[in-house]
Amino acid sequence: MLIKTGREGFIHSIASEITPEAAYRERRQLLKLMAGGVAGAALASWASREAIAQVQRPGKLAALPGAKSAVAGAATMEKVTEYKDATSYNNFYEFGTDKSDPAQNAHTLKTRPWVVEVEGLVKKPGKFAIDDLLKLAPMEERIYRLRCVEGWSMVIPWEGYSLSALINKVEPLGNAKFVEFVTLADPKTMPFVGSRVLDWPYVEGLRMDEAMHPLTLLSFGMYGEVLPNQNGAPVRIVVPWKYGFKSAKSIVKIRFTEKEPPTAWNKAAANEYGFYSNVNPNVDHPRWSQATERRIGEDGLFAKKRKTLMFNGYEQQVGQLYAGMDLKKNY
Ligand code: MTE
Repeated sequence: MLIKTGREGFIHSIASEITPEAAYRERRQLLKLMAGGVAGAALASWASREAIAQVQRPGKLAALPGAKSAVAGAATMEKVTEYKDATSYNNFYEFGTDKSDPAQNAHTLKTRPWVVEVEGLVKKPGKFAIDDLLKLAPMEERIYRLRCVEGWSMVIPWEGYSLSALINKVEPLGNAKFVEFVTLADPKTMPFVGSRVLDWPYVEGLRMDEAMHPLTLLSFGMYGEVLPNQNGAPVRIVVPWKYGFKSAKSIVKIRFTEKEPPTAWNKAAANEYGFYSNVNPNVDHPRWSQATERRIGEDGLFAKKRKTLMFNGYEQQVGQLYAGMDLKKNY
């Protein structure tokens, strides 16, 4: 991302990026293979893929198991990123701008008591204590690709449920067109909240149909355990077809609005970070290409980058949300 250094000055930090084109195969393709009469081979291959996607509980935090999700697209067969990489290479600017800062500094975040306030254009606004929110719907495990706008990606097993479960509960009014996510900005526990990098609090937003899409996850855990602080404890969203910065961490307020909410990165540099920010290999960031990505944990001297997929590989599930829209204009 880019870092505000003064009134107009921006520095952007992106590590040099190299990676492998690793095997990539979706369940759908396996099904095709099976239909083609190679059922035995396909089943064996499927079984090994399942083994690859097996999630090992790291045993560091409280267990939070989720049942395998039935939502279409919710379980990529790709190799899951190692827990140590997913929890030590983070963007959480409230705790510092280096990738290693959140893991080092976020131990100060207090995740209990924690209340998420739901307000704005809804019939039933209210305050949800985190432990009630945890029980609002059955916990599912979703294995999603996460693609950062900076050009790297991971595959992470998340625990949570569709955000739509909460939205349905609070009954949005007819004029609610957008959902705004406001995250914690506590200068006492978050050392970088006083900095000029962004306007705090970190705010993100989705259009109502995006927020209601079954893939949009309200997440409380990863790898079968509660979220580590650096990954957005105790509750965050995960929107797998959008660049990672749309997935706001440590949410304290969800507001339903008629107008598109101003969002943190859009306010910082509107020409670089649009409201939609759908992963799109055909629309470059003004300062770098978005055609390829580096998979964290798979770097090597001769590693090739992977091709970035349209909507991060979730085109089949979400493409219709943007039918007729100019995705170059609405970046
Ligand atoms: N949420 C808050 N509150 N603050 C942040 O700095 N960074 C975003 C997003 N959510 C960020 C945030 C960015 S740029 C990314 S890529 C993802 O979190 C990273 O999530 P992860 O560390 O769990 O992989």
